[in-house]
Parts: sequence; structure tokens; C-alpha cells
Amino acid sequence: MKFDIHILVRPNIRLLTPYRCARDDYDQGILLDANENAIGSVPADPRELNRYPDPHQDAFRAKYATFRQISPENVFCGVGSDEAIDLILRIFCKPAEDAILITPPTYGMYKVSAAINDVDVQSIPLSRDFQLRVDDILAAVRPKTKVIFLCSPNNPTGNVLHRQDIRRILLEFNGIVVVDEAYVDFSDEISFASELDAFENLIVLQTLSKSFGLAGIRMGIALASAEIIDYMLRVKAPYNINKLTTEVALKALDNIDEMRSHVAILLNERARVAAALREIPAIGKIHPSDANFLLVEVENALHVYKTMADTGVVIRYRGDQIHCDNTIRITIGTPEENDAMITMLKQVTI
Ligand SMILES: Cc1ncc(COP(=O)(O)O)c(C=O)c1O
Repeated sequence: MKFDIHILVRPNIRLLTPYRCARDDYDQGILLDANENAIGSVPADPRELNRYPDPHQDAFRAKYATFRQISPENVFCGVGSDEAIDLILRIFCKPAEDAILITPPTYGMYKVSAAINDVDVQSIPLSRDFQLRVDDILAAVRPKTKVIFLCSPNNPTGNVLHRQDIRRILLEFNGIVVVDEAYVDFSDEISFASELDAFENLIVLQTLSKSFGLAGIRMGIALASAEIIDYMLRVKAPYNINKLTTEVALKALDNIDEMRSHVAILLNERARVAAALREIPAIGKIHPSDANFLLVEVENALHVYKTMADTGVVIRYRGDQIHCDNTIRITIGTPEENDAMITMLKQVTI
């Protein structure tokens, strides 16, 4: 089957004449074209915050492309990957008509974003060992199924999905396959960014919120074919990424070694925390993790979660998710935070 991205795109988006920003054409000279405040920002700031930011994010896209060894035309910047998820739904799914397919337990935003966009959600749960049931996924595909969201390493389970399974879905599904790699830098698995040339229907999501520790600046990234990125650029708000975010994000890419050393600390801590948890009698299975958190079975998980939160250590209850009975998800913190968490978990589960 020949893949044609333009046929997948909603007709109104295909025909869209994007908003043209003042800064699309000229960004030098006496700029009296964008109704900015030429007197200056309040308070005054050397970064010219009175001027709109680059609508194209050329500097960041070029630098990120180098980091991931792809081309700038394959990079989109969003206000967190959550913005990219929303844009994907708006570009490919007709409200009240189309559907996405998700594989729970997984990241909750796919479903919420679908609900906001009035898009139906088909769920094909992961197997009990948290892997894709590829035959069932492909059998569930209907003409209305436009996007399949896969998350690897998966949240909240922490594991990487088998690469061959993702490849098979990319090959056999004639729609968009999103591989959400928010936690990829914590894993030994190589990014699907390296497979963009092989799969025209692939969108990889990444973020500076996790390995770079920059959740506060809201910088998410989508990697895809130049055609898909072009649609995302047309649909996004004109100046979605602000100057302060860009400034910090560019500096982050100058400090990849520091990111890697933070990741190394967290991975060491993850192993240490897992070992300590194994010694606590109320703890059941500690699921293997390729991310910066652990999914852990514990007796009376809901009670444990509530008591700990009320006493000052906040973890996440995940026992309401399929295949996750009596589980909590623990984000790996600093060594001191992890010690406090372990001490409290021991007390609460006596
Ligand atoms: C799998 C997954 N994707 C995306 C996100 C959101 O990332 P961002 O902060 O870039 O919006 C998260 C946040 O927890 C996540 O777990």
C-alpha cells in the first residue's frame, strides 16, 4: 500500500492558509509592523522581550537536529510534548468521526487530548508483561483509526516496547504511529529518530522535561518527515515558543555531558532504590525500568500512597490502571529524597 501523508490529513488542514506573522518576512530594521511596544519591556530586559520570538525556532531546531543526528526540517518544537500530542490529533483526526488507538496502561494525556478534540479512543491493553499485542492492535484498526500512540519507555510501567513490534505496526498500519520517547535518554535503546527515513508515518515525541530536567520551561519536540513537520508548523500558534524558553533550551544543548551525568546519577539511584525496596516485606514485584521511575507492587497501595502523601512524601498511585493492581509509581529523586521515601515506606507498611 502506497503511503500518502496528504490523504491522511484532515481536508480543512490540508487547505489551510496559515497565519502569517509579522516576523515571517522581516526581522531586521525599524520594526513597526507587529504592534510591539518599542519603548521596551517592563521591567527592562537586555533580551528584547518587547519583541516577538522567532516563529520558526530555527536556531533550536538546527541544534537539536545535530544532537539527534537528523535534519532541522524533521524537527518541530512545542510547548511541551503535550502540545505536539494535541496538534497531531487536530491535524489527523476529524472530531466526532475519527479515532486514535492507545495501549493502556500508558500516558494519560493521549486520552485526555482525544476527549478535548472529540476524537474516539480505541484501547488495546498491553499484555501482562507490558508488551504490545500487535495482532490485536492491527485487527482493531478501522477506517476511522488515524493515529496509534505507543510509549517507549512506557509510562507508568517503565519498560521499553519491543522494537520489532513497533516496526511491524509502522509497516502494517496505514496511518500515523507516534512513538513517545519522553524517557529515551534513560534507556540503552536507541531512539526511533534513526528510523525516520524508513517510515513516512512515524512521529517521535521527545522532551526536555525529563533527562534535561527542564520541565519548567515547557519544550517538547516532535521528529517526523518534513511533510508532517510542515503541517505541524502551519497549525501551531504563531509564536508558541517564547524567548526565555529558547534561551535556556539552547544552553541545554551546549551541556549534553551534564545531562548524561545527571542521567547516570538517577540510574545509579534507581538501582539502589530498587535494592532497598526489595528488602521491604510488603513490597511485591518491582517492575524493570528503563526510565526515571519505578512501578512497584505494594500491599494496600492506595492507603500507602495516601498516608505517605499526607506525611510529606508524594508518590503516585497507579493501582487504578489495567494490569497495575496495587501499584505505586515512584519517581527517582535525589539520594536524600530517596532515603526519606524508603524510610517512610518502611514505616507505613509495617
Ligand atoms: C510519556 C510522556 N510523554 C509526554 C510527557 C509530557 O512531556 P512534556 O513535559 O514535554 O509535555 C510525559 C510527562 O510526564 C510523559 O510521561
